[in-house]
Amino acid sequence: MSLDFSSLHISRTAEIVHGVSLTIGAGELHVLLGRNGSGKTTLLNAVMGHPAYTVEKGSVTIDGEDVTLLPAFERARRGLFLSLQQPPEIPGVGLADFLRSATTAIRGEHPKTVAFASALGANLAQLRLDPHFAERSVNVGASGGEKKRGEMVQMLTLAPKFALLDEPDSGLDADALHYVAEAIALLRTQGAGFLIVTHYQAFIELLKPDAIHVMRNGVIAQSGGLEILANGLAAVL
Ligand SMILES: Nc1ncnc2c1ncn2[C@@H]1O[C@H](COP(=O)(O)OP(=O)(O)OP(=O)(O)O)[C@@H](O)[C@H]1O
Ligand SMILES: [Mg+2]
Repeated sequence: MSLDFSSLHISRTAEIVHGVSLTIGAGELHVLLGRNGSGKTTLLNAVMGHPAYTVEKGSVTIDGEDVTLLPAFERARRGLFLSLQQPPEIPGVGLADFLRSATTAIRGEHPKTVAFASALGANLAQLRLDPHFAERSVNVGASGGEKKRGEMVQMLTLAPKFALLDEPDSGLDADALHYVAEAIALLRTQGAGFLIVTHYQAFIELLKPDAIHVMRNGVIAQSGGLEILANGLAAVL
């Protein structure tokens, strides 16, 4: 089982990512570092199939199947998940209803009501969110940290094979940082693979990554293990 990127060139109004190749295996956790504007969000959004981005060259494959031309929901059905750097507010759509619909779309059948409610309750508890949070409209009025924890509830509930997480730690207090790292570790023990963007060394140390990649100007300029951060994160950017 793997998620593979092969020589990806991605454009928006101009080319932003200039040839990125990466393989993420089951249970592997890869961290993606890079200065602001280096192309991290562009890479993650394009891999998920965001229609604003164009893959000019290269391919994305999930478990050997080329998904480069598939829309985002088809990639989700094959086990891909993206948490957003800036989660949007969706007025009028409750989190529980949203997740029930997404689960149905991904699995092709309605989840059992009691089992779904109990799993969602456990996932909210895992992120130390109040049970009523699931009845509120997605992200509406939520604090920055609640939005990020809410994204982790979505991830645990949809249980993807591969998760792309764009700064899941931004704006979190010290306790919440641990809750998010624990949610990631939990899904990892179930065999999921991860590509996680962050700017913070303390979070990377909690994640215990298999590999760290540094993006510079739209390419992966350096890869290695935790040892590449021996002189601090700023030294590798
Ligand atoms: N619609 C667009 N038109 C032109 N340039 C764009 C567009 N969208 C993104 N870019 C540019 O692409 C580059 C990469 O942006 P991206 O959001 O991928 O960076 P990032 O590595 O995620 O940065 P950050 O750490 O700040 O989140 C930036 O210079 C950005 O301004
Ligand atoms: Mg970004």
